[in-house]
Amino acid sequence: MNFDKPIDRRNTHSLKWDMMKPLYGVDPEHGTSMWVADMDFEPPAAVNDALQKMISDGVYGYFADYSDYRNSITGWMDRRHGWSVDPEHIFTTHGLVNAVALCMQSYTQQNDGVVLFTPVYHAFARVINAANRRVVECELVNNDGRYEMDFDAYDAQMDGTEKMVILCSPHNPGGRVWTPAELRGVADFAERHNLILVSDEVHHDLTFGVKHTAMPLAAPDIAHRLVMLTAPSKTFNIAGAYSGNVIIADEKLRKKFAATMAATATSPNSFGLVMTQAVYDHGDEWVDALRVYLDENRKIVDATMAKIPGLKSMEMESTFLSWVDFADTGMSQSEYRERIQKTAHIAANYGETFGKGGETFMRFNFATQRAQLIAAMERLQDAFSDLQ
Ligand SMILES: Cc1ncc(COP(=O)(O)O)c(C=O)c1O
Repeated sequence: MNFDKPIDRRNTHSLKWDMMKPLYGVDPEHGTSMWVADMDFEPPAAVNDALQKMISDGVYGYFADYSDYRNSITGWMDRRHGWSVDPEHIFTTHGLVNAVALCMQSYTQQNDGVVLFTPVYHAFARVINAANRRVVECELVNNDGRYEMDFDAYDAQMDGTEKMVILCSPHNPGGRVWTPAELRGVADFAERHNLILVSDEVHHDLTFGVKHTAMPLAAPDIAHRLVMLTAPSKTFNIAGAYSGNVIIADEKLRKKFAATMAATATSPNSFGLVMTQAVYDHGDEWVDALRVYLDENRKIVDATMAKIPGLKSMEMESTFLSWVDFADTGMSQSEYRERIQKTAHIAANYGETFGKGGETFMRFNFATQRAQLIAAMERLQDAFSDLQ
């Protein structure tokens, strides 16, 4: 594994690189794409090996017998997260945004409220709105650069029409790895308001020295309202496979979800199954090395931001997505965006798309080759040199 190996993703149908110009006006010829949450690295060799085998077999028909595939998932959850999963509790969806949409169809009705702790991954709100449910924004408290929850405030916000809460654990953006006590707080909140709790743990493998706790371990007593979402997409950079897992221990909840899967005729894609099995069986060493590499990148980003007066990057406990507050620069959104895009030639996400509390932030994806990252950070520093 060589994370420094340059990979030219231009003209490969890459959302991240091929859409940076139309969306952000940044030319990929001399700019750096730091928006969409995928990485500029090759996946573990086991992925290409598994796909090569498929190609050499030349078999692309309907897939059968999920037992090995499911055992690979349970093996990973057990080995890496100390979480024992029954293989019969696993569903496979077209990625996790699809899983969230299917959860909404399964457990809520039109106009029901769905609680989000904002700012949070923007696709949640998009799917909730598209399904004619209501987004209920419970804003996280930014406690000196660290997101925390305020359950008294959230309790006061509830009016009884809410039916579901979606937790992002670890959190995107902001990178918090929620503590067992915080997870307990979310579980109790769901219990108090009779909410289905969807815990999206897609970022659980990419932590930096802080231990992630799977929700079933933090609150084993809420299995009757818990739906777990996991996927190898972020960890192993195989998001294009659109393969995610919904893990439901409770039989009643499982039946409802199975009915939605049947009603929408949702069946997994064999390429996603094969890739998932490959990484969960053979990806341990690769992901351990990746975490070390990303940790170094994270420090480079933080050191750069610290040199620019007015910028504050949150301390990332997880994810490869730096979350930087521009509020104290005193600049308007358009001014700092223009400097980032036109002067530093960086495409980064706009904080406001993540909901309440994100307005003055930008999100920078640092999962790229070190040399590319350093060059981008130098350009960023230059773009704000008048402040230094
Ligand atoms: C919390 C979270 N959930 C889900 C996704 C994407 O899921 P998928 O691509 O499997 O639909 C992302 C991508 O960034 C994410 O951050």
